[in-house]
Amino acid sequence: MTPEQMQLVKASFSTIYRRKRQAGTLLYSRLFAMAPQVRPMFGEDIAPQVEMLVTMVTAILRAADDEEKLRGLLRPLALRHAAYGAVPAHYNAVGIAFLGTLDDILGDRLTPEMRAAWGAAYAEVAQRMIALSSEAAPANL
Ligand code: HEM
Repeated sequence: MTPEQMQLVKASFSTIYRRKRQAGTLLYSRLFAMAPQVRPMFGEDIAPQVEMLVTMVTAILRAADDEEKLRGLLRPLALRHAAYGAVPAHYNAVGIAFLGTLDDILGDRLTPEMRAAWGAAYAEVAQRMIALSSEAAPANL
């Protein structure tokens, strides 16, 4: 990500944050429509999940310039996700659902540059989580 992209992400986050419930609901309905096989991995009530996700995204953005803090968030998150059964193809689906959700809630206000910046931010976090997941013990040991 370029520093300009990071600025765009941070600047547009407050707009998304104000619509966090709507964004969360849309994100999971998009995800479950696209990849119904992941639905059973989640609890019945998706509302607490939305809250935790928004809290985590806020913390990740705050830690973005501090490598140690960022790793301190991403490593345990990645290990928990390995335990949930998340695999790289799922990260792809979540990324597509996430960008689609931004299209839904921001409409014309989502400029191509903002969309590319959020795509780059998601890709960076997802790649790091996937790489860190490989540190998890294989499930059959
Ligand atoms: C960058 C991508 C992602 C982020 C930032 C993220 C973030 C989170 C957060 C903050 C939680 C709350 C619980 C916790 O902290 O462990 C969570 C739970 C969860 N996530 Fe993710 N996640 C991501 C990608 C994925 C992917 C690709 C999957 C695979 C389908 C997934 C499946 C789950 C599941 C199954 C739970 C637990 C739900 C439950 O207990 O009801 N996540 N995620």
